[in-house]
Amino acid sequence: MTIVILLALSVAAAVAMTTTTTATAAAATASFSIELIHRDSPKSPFYNHSATSVDRSRAAIYRSVHEARRIAARVQRKGGIEPSDAASRVVPDSFEYLMELRVGTPPFSILAIVDTGSDLIWANCVPCTDCYRQTAPLFDPRNSSSYRTLPCDSNLCKALPTIACGAGSSCEYHYAYQDRSNIDGVLGTEDLTFDSSAGSPVVFSNIAFGCNSKSGGSFSSRTAGMAGLGGGPVSLVSQIVPTLDKKYFSYCLVPKSDTQASSKVIFGSAGVVAGSKVTTPMTVEGAFFVLRLEEIIVDGAGSVPVPPSAPGLTTGNIIIDSGTTVNFLPDGVLSSLVQEVSRVVSLPKATDPDGTLPLCFTVTGEADRQKLPFITFKFAGEASVRLSPKTMFMDEVSFAGQMVCLAVADSATPIFGNLAQQNLHVGYDLDIPAVSFASADCTKL
Ligand SMILES: *[C@@H]1O[C@H](CO)[C@@H](O)[C@H](O)[C@H]1NC(C)=O
Ligand SMILES: *[C@@H]1O[C@H](CO)[C@@H](O)[C@H](O)[C@H]1NC(C)=O
Repeated sequence: MTIVILLALSVAAAVAMTTTTTATAAAATASFSIELIHRDSPKSPFYNHSATSVDRSRAAIYRSVHEARRIAARVQRKGGIEPSDAASRVVPDSFEYLMELRVGTPPFSILAIVDTGSDLIWANCVPCTDCYRQTAPLFDPRNSSSYRTLPCDSNLCKALPTIACGAGSSCEYHYAYQDRSNIDGVLGTEDLTFDSSAGSPVVFSNIAFGCNSKSGGSFSSRTAGMAGLGGGPVSLVSQIVPTLDKKYFSYCLVPKSDTQASSKVIFGSAGVVAGSKVTTPMTVEGAFFVLRLEEIIVDGAGSVPVPPSAPGLTTGNIIIDSGTTVNFLPDGVLSSLVQEVSRVVSLPKATDPDGTLPLCFTVTGEADRQKLPFITFKFAGEASVRLSPKTMFMDEVSFAGQMVCLAVADSATPIFGNLAQQNLHVGYDLDIPAVSFASADCTKL
């Protein structure tokens, strides 16, 4: 089944539009899914044949720590997170996942960075006189019959942090990333095409889409754009999900050791988490999805209570994020957790070479790994998520022999990261709103 949404807008009408522009899609659009390409998977242009798994683990820890610092700085700055804070939190090089976006009519493929902490969807566009060099061809809006510019008084334009009225009242944006990388361009609307679960394409029209005329900083020539999966107003999620048969999306992240299978995001009713699941209330602050974590329970040892508030967050105490690898907990909670885990693990202690992960053990084989405990994150609403040692401990973290470390580091702003979420089906119901978790084999979903 091909769903084609006709664009019944003339250019003049599109320019005159001042109210909220939302994606126009057929009522009850079929579910569809997008493949998430991990940066270190062989399908990624960032795949490095000569890197070892220790190289990859160390790089992921490094990126996590820097991401966590930036997230903490952003949520804790004076006044908290603003609703209009659509600016990306990432520095362009610290992403974890990529996705293919098919933009325009006819669809043009763009390899985009998935950014869970921001929302603007953008690409470098012809003529891009002052852009970072990219390997893939530039998107040319003149070649697309569905491209329209948005006026600067439109609500979507006003949802962006730094805007100006350009030629013909076009919406011009400027984004500065935290490492001073930056993009400038014109906000328009475009058609985005995805493969539906039935295998045929589904098209969403009038999706706010930024066309860069300038971009620079630490962007890699191997990427051509960015797609926000956060909760802010111009994200892919916020623009597409309301038009679906169910306001729902979910993802399932395959373990990074599995280089053949792919992780995916499923939009609409087909993504609903089934089977034995737990559900906890969710809120959106800025572009972040926020949960309330009550306690952490270590199998065979005690439980660690988590303070109900975290600096900068007003509706919960932990950000759930697929763009950060390790978890982050505040100092006091982390030291109690380290104490509880130490009580039940009889393995010799080791030291993380960078000193980032506070609890590591020397392991000599599978029998030793069996000695690591399951750890339960208990979220509000009796939502206990029991996490296996495979996802709560990080393997291959040292060049100097076999070592595993508890995948939790210290930050005042807690983060539930992507390692812990591996082989969990994680569903976001935007109507309730709530997040559900169920154990899953993500290679089979
Ligand atoms: C690939 O990994 C090797 C080993 O860590 C490293 O020396 C090299 O710089 C990496 N290459 C790139 C392009 O990142
Ligand atoms: C745009 O169209 C022109 C003329 O048909 C073509 O030469 C060019 O390759 C196209 N560019 C892109 C990026 O599709």
